[in-house]
Amino acid sequence: MFDLRSDTVTRPTPEMRAAMAAAEVGDDVYREDPTVRRLEEAVAALVGKPAALFVSSGTMANQLALLCQTRPGDEVIAGKSAHVIAYESGAGAALSGVQFAQTEGEIFTASEAERLIRQRAYYCPRTSLIAVENTHNMGGGRVFPQENVAELAVLARREGFALHLDGARIWNASVATGKGVGELAAPFDSVSVCFSKGLGAPAGSAVCGSEAMIERALRLRKMLGGGMRQVGILAAGALHALEHHRPRLAHDHAAAKALGARLAALEGVTVAPIDTNIVVAKLACAEASVRRGRELGVLFSAMAHDTVRLVTHLDVTGPRFSDAIALVARAVEESLREGKGG
Ligand SMILES: Cc1ncc(COP(=O)(O)O)c(C=O)c1O
Repeated sequence: MFDLRSDTVTRPTPEMRAAMAAAEVGDDVYREDPTVRRLEEAVAALVGKPAALFVSSGTMANQLALLCQTRPGDEVIAGKSAHVIAYESGAGAALSGVQFAQTEGEIFTASEAERLIRQRAYYCPRTSLIAVENTHNMGGGRVFPQENVAELAVLARREGFALHLDGARIWNASVATGKGVGELAAPFDSVSVCFSKGLGAPAGSAVCGSEAMIERALRLRKMLGGGMRQVGILAAGALHALEHHRPRLAHDHAAAKALGARLAALEGVTVAPIDTNIVVAKLACAEASVRRGRELGVLFSAMAHDTVRLVTHLDVTGPRFSDAIALVARAVEESLREGKGG
């Protein structure tokens, strides 16, 4: 079975498992796990922030950034279908007490964000943070343009807002643009990154920011029940992923382009531009295609009745990826034909 539903479905390679088994560990609640500390230092250096904290998930990393930089009653500006708005179980409202103002598109400009800033009056919510997602997951893995980020940073500084980067897939954005992770992250006050998406580690994320913010995040992580003990085992997987799986992301991007090109060649299918490892295609009968794919041995998802989404990653983009492409094309072709009564 080829699983193209998400890049979160990867399983640790034998080499990653060996690195995890060999990890030197200690009690991280005492801050005595040397592998966790090594990962946090490496990530802070890579992202170009003074400090980083290893956390269980991208959701926890985003929520700690909100908790550290907003107050209850505040409003956060973020892109359409941003993970922090739509896929974190309402945590922004439940934990930080914030509400969201959503831009029209996944990618937005400073002037769009500016239009959403609330009037400064005691009876309005206080706009206090702008969140950017790069790459944008539901936006089809699109890279958020760095020119927009630069303008958003000017706006945020002028207005006294914090600027947060949901960089769950910043590694993909870096490979796609040829810009360093530090360069992409530089304008942001806080950054979350994930090791369990395209990098292929079994779990773990980090939230990065100033020393003061990360000290506060450490306390908040404990409050949320996120203090873990000999978690160097997971940090070793993340370190292995950063060293060995980051350079191979270009391969996943090339695979996504090949898959997109094959789908675009089918009549009745329109493929959105592909920047990284996510392919979004419009076609009639999305659900029937997904069902047929499952019967044929390839999993992908329907985002809407007329939209499918396929994600490439290290478990599928090996030599047999051409088989996966052929199966997806067959599933789509057959369901389109059936839909037409053919
Ligand atoms: C852009 C983005 N941010 C955050 C997350 C949350 O990560 P996790 O599933 O580790 O909580 C995801 C998960 O898919 C994501 O795509």
